[in-house]
Amino acid sequence: MSAALQEPVVDGAPAPVCEVVDLVKHFGPVRAVDGISLHVDPGTVVALVGESGSGKSTVGRLIVRLLEPTSGTVRLNGVDVSSLTRRAMRPHRRTVSIVFQDPASSLDPRMTVGAIVGEPLRLHGASSSQRAERVGEMLEKVGLRRGVAGRYAHELSGGQRQRVSIARALVSRPSLLVADEPTSALDVSVQASVLNLLADLQRDLGFACLFITHDLAAVEYLADEVAVMYLGKLAERAPRERIFTAPRHPYTQALLSAAPVPDPPTQRSRRRVVLSGDIPSSLSPPSGCRFHTRCPVAVDRCTTEVPDLREAGGSLVACHLVADDGTGPDVRRVE
Ligand SMILES: Nc1ncnc2c1ncn2[C@@H]1O[C@H](COP(=O)(O)OP(=O)(O)O)[C@@H](O)[C@H]1O
Ligand code: SF4
Ligand SMILES: [Mg+2]
Repeated sequence: MSAALQEPVVDGAPAPVCEVVDLVKHFGPVRAVDGISLHVDPGTVVALVGESGSGKSTVGRLIVRLLEPTSGTVRLNGVDVSSLTRRAMRPHRRTVSIVFQDPASSLDPRMTVGAIVGEPLRLHGASSSQRAERVGEMLEKVGLRRGVAGRYAHELSGGQRQRVSIARALVSRPSLLVADEPTSALDVSVQASVLNLLADLQRDLGFACLFITHDLAAVEYLADEVAVMYLGKLAERAPRERIFTAPRHPYTQALLSAAPVPDPPTQRSRRRVVLSGDIPSSLSPPSGCRFHTRCPVAVDRCTTEVPDLREAGGSLVACHLVADDGTGPDVRRVE
């Protein structure tokens, strides 16, 4: 077991690989992330879903410290890294990796694939023969031939390039992988194979994963837990099974109603909720519940009172109308 995979134990239970508390990121007046708390347990996949512009990528970048939070904390394997300097952060770097949506822009065109995949190891002081061996092994793990190490990224297909990014992200055996829409820039024909690869690697290597996506089929396939984000805040968090069978938050219900349900009778009894308009701008998020401008069941207090994320029937839900036992409106059945 590598140092990166040793799990600190707090009170007998393994500490989360990653825990963020009250995370806030403002870009000037843009409130991209406005108070998010979530954790990822060792070896589990947490899907972060929500419409474009809700702040998902910003959360991912804050966790891997590509961005500095405006406030709040990021703990990796129990260590608060939010205020570490670049240098002090270095030993923690290998515990987290990120894979981006577009493999073309994240791979340096002047470097060979071998140099790209081996770079994290070089930064951690591995010798060149150790690196060559680990790179070859990693390329095979992501379904590429070892010989690809001598090629350049532009000589590869989009799917192969994303496999290279995944190899690079995993070569130092991180305990957490942030995967930010890793298949959405790929041809539809190769999306499934890259998704399968991620699932196999996750099972095989046992890393935890924050899987950012808007593809609900991928969520159903990969995730243990689902966190639903709307305009910089969490609307709901629950185990995958419960999100799909008993979504509590009106926004979660609306998202699910827009996706095809595998079971046709369920589909027929459900009303498709069309969310009116685009997601509001994070320059001036709506008052009270941020979803109130589009929520089909909003009541007066929704425009003034911010709902807290609280336990409701085994889920965490931020909605005034959901009772503590989880009962509440289902916007898919509202006439
Ligand atoms: N570097 C930045 N500067 C200014 N605004 C940004 C920056 N990055 C993201 N934003 C804004 O923050 C909001 C959330 O963006 P993002 O985290 O990319 O959302 P998502 O990944 O859910 O689509 C958007 O309104 C986006 O325009
Ligand atoms: S708090 Fe109000 S506006 Fe927000 S989701 Fe619940 S009912 Fe809709
Ligand atoms: Mg994004």
